[in-house]
Amino acid sequence: PELISVANLGAALGIKAKEFIQQMGEMGFENITKDNILTGETAALIAQEYGFEAQVAMGEDEDLKPRPPPEDPSSLPLRPPVVTIMGHVDHGKTTLLDYLRKSSIVEQEHGGITQHIGAFSVNLSSGNPITFLDTPGHAAFLSMRQRGANVTDMVILVVAADDSVKPQTIEALKHARAAKVPMIVAINKVDKESANIDRVKSDLVAQGVEIEDYGGDVQVVCVSGKTGQGMEDLEENILLLAEMLDIRSETDGMAEGWVLESTIKPIGRVATVLVKRGTLRPGDAIVAGSVAARIRTLRNEAGQEIDEAPPGTAVEILGWKDPPAAGDQVLQAPSEDKAKRAAHYRQELKERHEAVALQTKQDQDKRDKA
Ligand code: GTP
Ligand code: MG
Repeated sequence: PELISVANLGAALGIKAKEFIQQMGEMGFENITKDNILTGETAALIAQEYGFEAQVAMGEDEDLKPRPPPEDPSSLPLRPPVVTIMGHVDHGKTTLLDYLRKSSIVEQEHGGITQHIGAFSVNLSSGNPITFLDTPGHAAFLSMRQRGANVTDMVILVVAADDSVKPQTIEALKHARAAKVPMIVAINKVDKESANIDRVKSDLVAQGVEIEDYGGDVQVVCVSGKTGQGMEDLEENILLLAEMLDIRSETDGMAEGWVLESTIKPIGRVATVLVKRGTLRPGDAIVAGSVAARIRTLRNEAGQEIDEAPPGTAVEILGWKDPPAAGDQVLQAPSEDKAKRAAHYRQELKERHEAVALQTKQDQDKRDKA
């Protein structure tokens, strides 16, 4: 393993040995001398305290990393675009999705409130599949974005015509902007008497949304999930934008994706995973966070078993011993053994981080009391 003495670490950080030992004492390292030997992980954590991003060489080969991005995506096969529906609570996200899918999730849901991220693929009129994600909370999205994930290729912002821009509308706007993906605004519930489309538009402009009526390039479509008014326009806009984006991914190589949701069903632990690169198949070894699994069954959103999940599709994965967490990245491993070792390595790293964090907190509390 990679080791470093206190004196050398201090020197690497540009701090005099005596001062460094004193500061380490404040961090909770007791009876330290300049000759004490630290492990790479401990040294990296200390370096972090000083604002350094330290890489530990040791153990790295145990871990799994995503592949570097493709050099020339234009030669890769097209994949279904991933479209995320966002907006304030009750503004009609699920109803619009439901219309697009022509089933009835709204009625199945308790009280009509989306309990989880729904994900499904549909063939809109053109025949090209599109994968839709229904987002109730944004926690998993936040977590994925913090890890640099471009989970979605486009956002549909739903704003109810009778309620206009609300806190979660603004929140959704922030997400779309941070993700740097194009957005289509769907002004919903235009069938209602209290609908006020102009107000929604000016409220959006006030939030800095450059909508087309005001010379910008954000498309606005007026729809009703209830009567179906404007829904063809919305479909057309989504398809046009998808075509323009020309979204491509590798269908081969080690697969990569993201856990959208993780639940326990009568058949066992199930995670809904959005595949972004490569293709997942039953029998494949994968790692999600610090959990390893061998895929037992793949199912589509209708609960049917499928043989493979190509990029741009969301799929239910069965075969977990431990639950993966929503927002975790999924990486395929070349073997089950490699997957287990990576999971083990990540678990150890996590425990060490937690131990240091706890120690730091306890020391802080001690100092606060003193
Ligand atoms: P959450 O998942 O809870 O955030 O809500 P949501 O945005 O998915 O809204 P949902 O689709 O559940 O719709 C909320 C309510 O608005 C339901 O009672 C729908 O029937 C109603 N609704 C949705 N779209 C329309 C519409 O176009 N017109 C009218 N009149 N009612 C609608
Ligand atoms: Mg909903």
